[in-house]
Amino acid sequence: MAGPVPELEDRAVACAKRLCEADRVLLASHIDADGLTSAAIAAQALERAEIPFETVFEKQLDEDAIAAIAATDYDTVLFTDFGSGQLDVIGEYEDAGAFTPIVADHHQPADRDTEYHLNPLLFGINGASELSGAGASYVLARALADVHEPSTAADGGPIAGPAGTTARADNRDLAALAVVGAVGDMQASGGELHGANEGIVAEGVDAGVLETGKDLALYGKQTRPLPKLLEYATDVHIPGVSNDANGSLRFLDGLDLELKRDGDWRRWADLTNEEKRTVASALVRKAVSSGVPAAKIDGLVSTAYVLSEEPVGTELRDASEFSTLLNATARYERADVGLGVCLGDRDGALERARQLLAEHRRNLSNGIDLVTREGTTEEAHVQWFDAGDEIRETIVGIVAGMAMGNEGISRSKPIIAFAAKNDEELKVSARGTHSLVRQGLDLSVVLGEASRAVGGDGGGHDVAAGATIPSEQKAAFVDRTDEIVGEQLT
Ligand code: C5P
Ligand code: C5P
Ligand code: C5P
Ligand code: ZN
Repeated sequence: MAGPVPELEDRAVACAKRLCEADRVLLASHIDADGLTSAAIAAQALERAEIPFETVFEKQLDEDAIAAIAATDYDTVLFTDFGSGQLDVIGEYEDAGAFTPIVADHHQPADRDTEYHLNPLLFGINGASELSGAGASYVLARALADVHEPSTAADGGPIAGPAGTTARADNRDLAALAVVGAVGDMQASGGELHGANEGIVAEGVDAGVLETGKDLALYGKQTRPLPKLLEYATDVHIPGVSNDANGSLRFLDGLDLELKRDGDWRRWADLTNEEKRTVASALVRKAVSSGVPAAKIDGLVSTAYVLSEEPVGTELRDASEFSTLLNATARYERADVGLGVCLGDRDGALERARQLLAEHRRNLSNGIDLVTREGTTEEAHVQWFDAGDEIRETIVGIVAGMAMGNEGISRSKPIIAFAAKNDEELKVSARGTHSLVRQGLDLSVVLGEASRAVGGDGGGHDVAAGATIPSEQKAAFVDRTDEIVGEQLT
């Protein structure tokens, strides 16, 4: 049977068969939205295949983290959303008999392959824009459902129906989490998911867990009251509305609609289709009359990915809001909370996640203000800032990406962000744009080479990458990145 991504099918089946041979598995994943959804998909697939497992999360899969994993008494380790870039180190442990690695990842692989390595980049599929870690885990989950022989009940009858009969039995219900992971890794470019991701979306729609359609391209359609939805929408700047609380209120008051209920503003998700059309057309007219260029106005509409089984008006219903909620847990050492939410804990875990989200928003907003106020230092080909310990190293990359395009922070040069990791080391996060990537930028190569040149390590994707370097090497590192980016862009 062909899986959701045919190119990956043989590898996926090999990985799934190997997992079924294990008595128990250690599942190791990355601490961001994609890593959490990867782990949640793998966890449910393992559970349904009756393979005992335990889950651990790592900020970075560095040599220490791999050594700690090797020191456990697990013989089989499933890495999701990381592992490819570390296969050289992991391979040494495999050679020494410490454990068998199985990897479902989408990061740039190291110079060593292994039999159980599932990565879109090995098959000509773009790992930054066409398949995420959660997507790779989903492909594995689908194969696992095919390969697994359901155990028999006491009376001899099968417990689960034959694989493939229902969305749950063949793991297609997990497609919703795979889409949250892809959106969390910013794979929706130009407003929608592409390539292998589209195949996963189609399976999710078919399984009844996803709905897609053109909608307003604003963040917060499920949870933000309408005035806040408009005020905070800054991806397409609409004069008199974006970043303008009173302007947003006046705009909404000027529409002939009942947009309040019991004195409270309604949310986009509460509107009827007719009401949505009215607001959207008025917004487009407002943008046109304020002189926003047509190409920008097109960006006001994009494909929305709705998790149809989640309640209307919650973060969980919108793939983008869901992914932000997850980042708010995992990047603050509470991956357990985010995993709980993904696995269906709608009480304790969701409540805690919402508290963490409020804190995450404050931190992002303060971080973006700080960077915008202080500005960046421009080199010939890159710009950079050092947040010291003012911005957490786990979110400095998100801040850098969101600050790009603000006043004084150009979108024509990649941005390199530094934050203190500890007394001796700096965390580096780099973000580019899709337009720079089309011109030749590959930040995974830039950060990999420049960090190793100064005794650090790094990697990632063409458009977003990270590294750790010795603190005293910052200047040398900036010089080296500037040089490599210069070569890539000419
Ligand atoms: O671990 P890694 O794949 O998980 O994380 C990807 C990171 O790259 C995310 O923080 C995401 O926000 C960022 N990214 C970005 N712009 C893109 C693609 C990814 O900022 N176009
Ligand atoms: O309310 P505020 O604008 O501070 O919300 C910031 C939150 O919204 C962050 O969690 C951020 O990840 C998310 N966001 C986003 N994309 C946008 C705007 C906000 O992911 N375009
Ligand atoms: O941490 P940050 O969000 O900046 O990471 C951007 C991308 O770079 C992620 O995909 C992450 O996995 C990758 N990265 C890496 N090696 C590092 C740090 C980050 O491959 N040392
Ligand atoms: Zn990822």
